[in-house]
Amino acid sequence: MMDMFCVEGGHVLHGTVFVDGSKNASLPILAATLAIEGEVTLEQVPQLQDVATMGQLLQSIGAAVERLDDGSLRINTCAVKSSMAPYELVRQMRASVCVLGPLLARFGSARVSLPGGCNIGHRPIDLHLRGLAALGAEIRLEAGYIVAESSRLRGADLDLCGPHGPTVTGTCNIMIAASLAKGRTIIRSAAKEPEVQDFARFLTAAGARISGAGTSIVEIDGVDHLHEVRHTVIPDRIEAATLAIAAAITHGDVTIRNAPTTHMTCVLNALNLIGIPVDATHDTLHIRASSMPRPARLTAEPYPGLPTDCQAQFMALLSTIEGESLITDTVFPERFMHAAELVRLGADIRIQNNSAFIRGVARLSGASVMASDLRASAALVLAALAAEGHSEIRRVYHLDRGYHALEQKLNHLGAKIQRTHDGSPNIAPRPHIAPLSPDNPLGSVRHAGKRSGQE
Ligand code: EPZ
Repeated sequence: MMDMFCVEGGHVLHGTVFVDGSKNASLPILAATLAIEGEVTLEQVPQLQDVATMGQLLQSIGAAVERLDDGSLRINTCAVKSSMAPYELVRQMRASVCVLGPLLARFGSARVSLPGGCNIGHRPIDLHLRGLAALGAEIRLEAGYIVAESSRLRGADLDLCGPHGPTVTGTCNIMIAASLAKGRTIIRSAAKEPEVQDFARFLTAAGARISGAGTSIVEIDGVDHLHEVRHTVIPDRIEAATLAIAAAITHGDVTIRNAPTTHMTCVLNALNLIGIPVDATHDTLHIRASSMPRPARLTAEPYPGLPTDCQAQFMALLSTIEGESLITDTVFPERFMHAAELVRLGADIRIQNNSAFIRGVARLSGASVMASDLRASAALVLAALAAEGHSEIRRVYHLDRGYHALEQKLNHLGAKIQRTHDGSPNIAPRPHIAPLSPDNPLGSVRHAGKRSGQE
């Protein structure tokens, strides 16, 4: 049976909560370990379904992946022999495409399934392929797989700009490939996200020669090989933002520790614009109840703009604030599947092109809703916290892809969320955070039932 949450709304959150490591920093870094022959130790990698999926992908390629007692992840790629990422794993998680660059750089060939469809909109990988081709790779499509080959990649001056701006994982793919190419590479229109900066820090610690990460022009001088390294992944700014909005939507008083506040300027500005009192130090956020919340007009943009990964959560918050609000998503113009489910909870939202017109209501009311993707499920949880009465949120396996035990963190703050089954026909053991063990080194969350979509 598949997971669902039963939520009793109306409880004010208060207390202290800690932010885990960043999913979107962890995934490209895990993939990049394939380019390093030897052992890599990663700290603060969160226990998420997507991390478990990436671990399975690395293991399917021949790497050893183990979650140590201290919570760090140890990856050893000495035994890596295959350079193929199979469809059954890639279809579960789009970030699997991040193995393309490392495999090509280390082995001179890579065979990675095309990622397939996605619930947040059209997600091509043409920029990834364009960048690798610029580095000299021969790219072809074969039976749904990308086949990339190159005896030796060579540096190039290339531009990664796409119709909706830079590409985060595309920048990472080209960065790792260029790190082992011959000569200098200049990546123009590079993504600036903190996760890309962390990726560059990881590669530099492994011996890569990279400058300009975090700006739109990144310069890389290729080296012959990368060496073993230990790296601590940055905290997750999207989880921190989600927890901050949980405090705001319930008029609570919450302290959020291990928050990467320097990566959250636009999120904090948006909360201030909405009238939510926020105090921030370098690693802590304190969110207090607002006496006068205000409607707002927000636009999701590439970093340092407001993250598209917070768009759904802000939509939930603005749905509860009287007045006319507007949210536009310039990164994923179709990322609005959560809107219809929020309407089931009593929100007043109209979608037009890449914008959501929101008329705030005095009170949301509990209902049965269904998650469609990772951040949409987070938005539904937030709305259910504020809604009057009971809500049921189905297909919360989407949530487990990017949040570790979110309901436990929220219940620790005073929420009333119970994880249970939805009685759906596909019977399977109840999902759980499996204990760490040699045959389950990542302590993955195991889910039964079909998994749709991917982010
Ligand atoms: C990363 O996805 C994140 N995932 C996403 O987070 C995030 O929403 C996205 O960046 C934007 O910030 C990871 O880092 C694992 P893109 P990515 O390539 O790299 C277009 C979450 O909820 N594009 O930056 O796949 C694309 O269609 C997930 O945690 C091309 O046109 O996103 C989009 O409009 C969801 N061609 C824009 O660029 C390409 O080859 C940005 O996409 C690649 C992308």
